[in-house]
Amino acid sequence: MTSESAYEWRPVKGFALSGIFWGGVSVVIGLIISIQMWMPEWNIPPFFTYGRLRAVHINGLALGFAVAEIFAMSYYMVQRLTRTRLLFPKLAMVQLYIFNIAIVAAAVSLLAGMTQSKEYAELEWPLDIGVVILWVMFGINIFGTILKRKEEQMYISLWYLIATVIAVAVLYIVNNLAIPVGLFKSYSVFAGVNDANVQWWYGHNAVGFIFTTPILAMFYYFLPKATGLPIYSHRLSIIAFWSLVFAYLWTGAHHLVYTPVPDWIQSVGIAFTMFMIAPSWGSVVNGYYTMGGNWDKLKTNYLTKFFILGITFYGLQTLQGPTQSLRVVSQLVHFTDWLPGHVHMGTMGWVAMTVGAATYYTVPKIYNTEIHSVKLANTHFWFVLVGQLIFSLSMWVLGVQQGIMWKAVSPEDGSLTYTFMESVAANYPYWKMRTFGGLLFTIGIVVFAYNVFMTVHRAKRSTAAAEGR
Ligand code: HEM
Ligand code: HEM
Repeated sequence: MTSESAYEWRPVKGFALSGIFWGGVSVVIGLIISIQMWMPEWNIPPFFTYGRLRAVHINGLALGFAVAEIFAMSYYMVQRLTRTRLLFPKLAMVQLYIFNIAIVAAAVSLLAGMTQSKEYAELEWPLDIGVVILWVMFGINIFGTILKRKEEQMYISLWYLIATVIAVAVLYIVNNLAIPVGLFKSYSVFAGVNDANVQWWYGHNAVGFIFTTPILAMFYYFLPKATGLPIYSHRLSIIAFWSLVFAYLWTGAHHLVYTPVPDWIQSVGIAFTMFMIAPSWGSVVNGYYTMGGNWDKLKTNYLTKFFILGITFYGLQTLQGPTQSLRVVSQLVHFTDWLPGHVHMGTMGWVAMTVGAATYYTVPKIYNTEIHSVKLANTHFWFVLVGQLIFSLSMWVLGVQQGIMWKAVSPEDGSLTYTFMESVAANYPYWKMRTFGGLLFTIGIVVFAYNVFMTVHRAKRSTAAAEGR
């Protein structure tokens, strides 16, 4: 047994708390942009318009929240699973400071309108270099610690972390290859259809290797830890892992159905996308079977329901995603609000639930205390669950309505049944419903942040009391 003091928890603490802070800010920005959709006067040009704030919302949640929590939980898991102290703790602390400076710089540059105009790759080239440096620092610590490990067995979470580090590095560098024409402007080296193809190869896998593989690493590690139940099948977890990483990288063209991208590329993308159901559900089934007959833990152990609901949304997401890629479905829902419904079931359901529970498990452990309030954690759970369901359901109904209204034509002369403005006016009730769902979700996140803050506060107070301060 390696003693507790042999581990290095400072970077875990720093990244976990930074992630909660940036997540909170970005969720509030999500709420604001959702209001701007039905109250256009909330757009304040030039800095606080929908177009700029939307990019801040997405980057804030993907980089500020998800990546910070990935750093935090990876540094926790890698030390536990290898029974080895983090190889370069000082490097991780430098990474923490650069990370927070980079997030501020990213937000400011996006508000100032500096963008490469590529989804999830908006940041201009100086910041791209910063992101790559941060990722290399992370990779050095993860690979270094794994190489020096005292535990020979490589648990499945480590495989998912390795895949995350490699895939994000390759995807980010290739898609951001650009020629700078000034400090704040660059042009992609790719053009036209090639640019679209590379962009969505990147775009889909950014979802895959930020919102999926590292979150699966957390799920596989923390579910057994929280419930005390060993994972159902290691073999299934390994088969699901290799088939997932193999198929993921071929699916990007499903974002480009009915575009000038060659038909056969679209079809290859769709075929691999359908295949994705198998590895995704390999992990879902493994999670459910891990519970065995112990479903009472959903009631008795407050963390279990976060993980089980989280993996359930992942399961639904990975059935909905492949369905969307089919041409017959894409022609109806693409360009509609169905997509934000899909996105937020994954991000608010799967990602936010799993990360929330992993944080509740980790923070008391590294601060050597108990969680401040299980009651508040349960309150947090219900607010994010109900908020997310209202958000996703309203967007799915709206998406289908939009698709149908845009396609409706008169049988006599083929003219459009509805003007575009009529289809926009019909969106308002659903957009308001989304804001209501978002408000509930935001309340849940505020309760979460308060609970974690109080847990840390309590730990610091008792340490001070023990030291007689
Ligand atoms: C097997 C797994 C999945 C598949 C096959 C899949 C498939 C798809 C497809 C086909 C689209 C594009 C639809 C269109 O534009 O018409 C899409 C969009 C999206 N999905 Fe998924 N999805 C999966 C899982 C997930 C998960 C787990 C998340 C997040 C946690 C997620 C987040 C997103 C996002 C953010 C977009 C919007 C991309 C954009 O247009 O900006 N997906 N997905
Ligand atoms: C209060 C909660 C939230 C609200 C109100 C909200 C609102 C929004 C809105 C209005 C959009 C723009 C949709 C559009 O383009 O039509 C959006 C996009 C997006 N949000 Fe959120 N959001 C919330 C939480 C989250 C969370 C927790 C995450 C990630 C962990 C997230 C990730 C994203 C992503 C990836 C997109 C881009 C989707 C796309 O390209 O289609 N959001 N959000």
